[in-house]
Amino acid sequence: MHIPSLIAAKRDGAVLTREEIRAVITAFTSGEMPDYQMSALAMAIYFRGMSAEETAALTEAMLHSGSTLEWPAQAPMRIDKHSTGGIGDKTSLIIAPLLACDGAWVPMISGRGLGITGGTLDKLESIPGFRTRLDEAEIHRVIEKTGCVLIGQTESICPADKKLYSLRDVTGTVPSIPLITASILSKKLAEGLDRLILDVKHGTGAFMRTYEEAKALAQSMVSTAKVLGLKASVHINAMNEPTGHAAGNALEVIEAIECLQGRGPQDLEEICLNLAGAVSISSREHLRGFLHDGSAWRKFQEIVAAQGGDASKLEKLAQVHRAPVIREVRADRSGMLTRVDAYQTGLAVLNLGAGRSKASDPVDFAVGVDRLAKTGTQQHAGDVLARIHARSEAAAEAAEHTLREGITLE
Ligand code: URA
Repeated sequence: MHIPSLIAAKRDGAVLTREEIRAVITAFTSGEMPDYQMSALAMAIYFRGMSAEETAALTEAMLHSGSTLEWPAQAPMRIDKHSTGGIGDKTSLIIAPLLACDGAWVPMISGRGLGITGGTLDKLESIPGFRTRLDEAEIHRVIEKTGCVLIGQTESICPADKKLYSLRDVTGTVPSIPLITASILSKKLAEGLDRLILDVKHGTGAFMRTYEEAKALAQSMVSTAKVLGLKASVHINAMNEPTGHAAGNALEVIEAIECLQGRGPQDLEEICLNLAGAVSISSREHLRGFLHDGSAWRKFQEIVAAQGGDASKLEKLAQVHRAPVIREVRADRSGMLTRVDAYQTGLAVLNLGAGRSKASDPVDFAVGVDRLAKTGTQQHAGDVLARIHARSEAAAEAAEHTLREGITLE
């Protein structure tokens, strides 16, 4: 297999065979195919797209780049949700324990920040001691104990996605329907699920900007899942405004905890219940009970402790990760807030250091924004529209400028 010829063939719009795709993924996973060749191929796929057969072959090859989770015959039903990514989207941190409260098993394999969007793994790692890299024996132990496990791709589970995901993050190759389909479904198929709900976003803070693009992504994922034997349903949700009031790693965990304690922002609670209700056998009202009677919060603490995290620090995260500069962004006049743009918010948070510009960059858990005002609210001159958590005054200044470009008061 001559890799440069395959890259050139895709660049020129050819359809790759299942064998060629499998050979590429095998060579990339083993390290025989260097990152620069995979980056070039990802860019060719970004521009040329893939047929349904190529997308299914890529998903299958990425799934079989590692092992899959196997469950005992008498195990509870395995269910999960996956979002295509957004700003302030901390729903996984809430939905996973919620579904586990309902008796399901949730073996959730997530990713890190991608493009301007945050990642569940980066958020979870802001909890002192929390381990997202578990071996298979530990995965089984945690799920048997708590009904849920929150992990990332490893060298043994979805290693191809682990490598390709971090390359795409820094090479401008994220918003591609076949690459997103294969990335998400290879992880979900590796989980050995009975049911999956997909949350496909469209809008300024999503990889798919328009509803039509989101619909095409949703169709690609549902049909690829079906070909590969997984029953998936889909919700298409707008992502023009951040979810909740916070974006940034630890700041989002803090808001997720509030939601798990039944005192989260309404938009966050509603989207969690919509998605969890779509995949669970219980009604959304039954699930809402777990958020308001302490069960979901207790379950989250159990999961954190089972994965090595210090649950006693959860309610002290604001002190654990206190950024040196906290700046309020205030309304310069009175009016109706008609726009709090998800893209501008995501860009501000990324530039504060919450995401990566190079694959090797560390993420800053403390930085981000909170107390973000919601659109449709009346504001008075001097009201706080957001709080910026930054490493320096200069970073806070730049973030304020970026945020204000996304805010419209009329
Ligand atoms: N989530 C993933 O896991 N992969 C993508 O490509 C996008 C969102």
